[in-house]
Order: sequence, then C-alpha cells, then structure tokens
Amino acid sequence: MTGRGRFITLEGVDGAGKSTHLSWLVNHLRAQGRTVVQTREPGGTPLGEKLRELLLHLSMQLETEALLMFAARREHLAQIILPALERGDWVVCDRFTDASFAYQGGGRGLSNAKLSQLENWVQEGFQPDLTLLFDLPIEVAAQRMAGAARPLDRFEREKADFHERVRAAYLARAAAMPARVKVIDSRQSLESIQKQLEEIFSSA
Ligand code: TYD
Repeated sequence: MTGRGRFITLEGVDGAGKSTHLSWLVNHLRAQGRTVVQTREPGGTPLGEKLRELLLHLSMQLETEALLMFAARREHLAQIILPALERGDWVVCDRFTDASFAYQGGGRGLSNAKLSQLENWVQEGFQPDLTLLFDLPIEVAAQRMAGAARPLDRFEREKADFHERVRAAYLARAAAMPARVKVIDSRQSLESIQKQLEEIFSSA
C-alpha cells in the first residue's frame, strides 16, 4: 500500500445511518493528518451527478440501471478516485460496486455473473482496500427512514422485501470477502460505532 492512498467505501441499506458515519469518519481521518477526498456513487463527477439524477428518479430497465451505475463509476474512477490515490490521498466513498451487487443484484435480480462482467470490464481488478458495511434490520431502517423530512428516491420507496434482499446480498458479500468487508452493527449507539471505527483506523 506504500506510495498509494487508501480507498474506503461505506455501504448499507437505506436508513442504516451511513451518511452520519461517513462525515464523522472523514473528520476523524483528517484529524489524523490525512488528506481525504470525500465522494459518492452514483455521482462524484459532473457526468456522474447527472446520471445520479436519472438513476434516482426515472424508471428504466434493470439492465439500463446497471449499465448507467457502471458508466458513472468508470468516469468516477478515471477522474477522481485513481488520481487521488496516485497522489497518496485517501478516498472515502459513499457506496461503490458492492451496492450494485446488493441493489441491482439482490434487490432487482440481475445475475452475479452479469454484474461481475461489468465489474471486471470497468474496474480491471481494482477493489476498495476496506469496506464498512453498516448493517441494520430492515424494520429498524424503515422506522428511521419514516422520520426523514425529504422526499424518498426510487430505491428508498421500494417495499420491505426488496430491502431484505439488498441486505442479504450485502451480508453474503461480507461473508465471501471478510478481509475487505467489515460489518458494523448499526443498532449500536453512535458512540459505540465511533469507538469501533476509531479502532479500525488506529492501525490503518
Ligand atoms: P444513497 O447513497 O442512499 O444516498 P442518500 O443518502 O443521499 O439517499 O442513495 C443512492 C441510492 O442508489 C441508494 O438507494 C442505492 C442506489 N445504488 C444502487 O442501486 N446501485 C449502485 O451501484 C449504487 C452506487 C447505488
């Protein structure tokens, strides 16, 4: 890992509190003296942000949805993520390819084989160094989302069984890749989660 920054991704079902933990983590890493690029998917580039608007609000074929997610990702890698890592910066990204396996795969039913083809084509072997998966039972996540003041996007509006499949697909990936994906039980208090994150990053 010398000479190159670290690529950290945050994942979880909608309502798992990922955004709150992301800002805390970025501040924590900056306080440790690291240069951190905070970004998100879909999005992160001008083209990616336009694709995000379409992806979150227009209905489309499942295959189109997957292709657009990966199109945005290719641009994001080339313009933002890889140059930042080359400079030695750390990149903290709100969702990445595990979300495609969880939402387009688990949630919508696109095969892992097709998703892996896209992943190999777009990423050419590139993977996050570390992924934090904020895990929460769907009924708890739904209660938290019900309290949100903003209008829900097309993924957030999906029914509970969709979100159950998303959660199961995330957990299956964590079980298959335990060295990269750390599961964080998001039922814990904010303080205990922050303590856990401090421990994870104390030796990083
Ligand atoms: P999210 O990260 O939850 O943003 P916010 O916190 O602003 O609501 O929203 C992004 C949505 O996009 C989320 O519901 C999951 C979905 N998504 C996919 O379906 N596939 C992907 O590959 C990615 C990156 C996101």
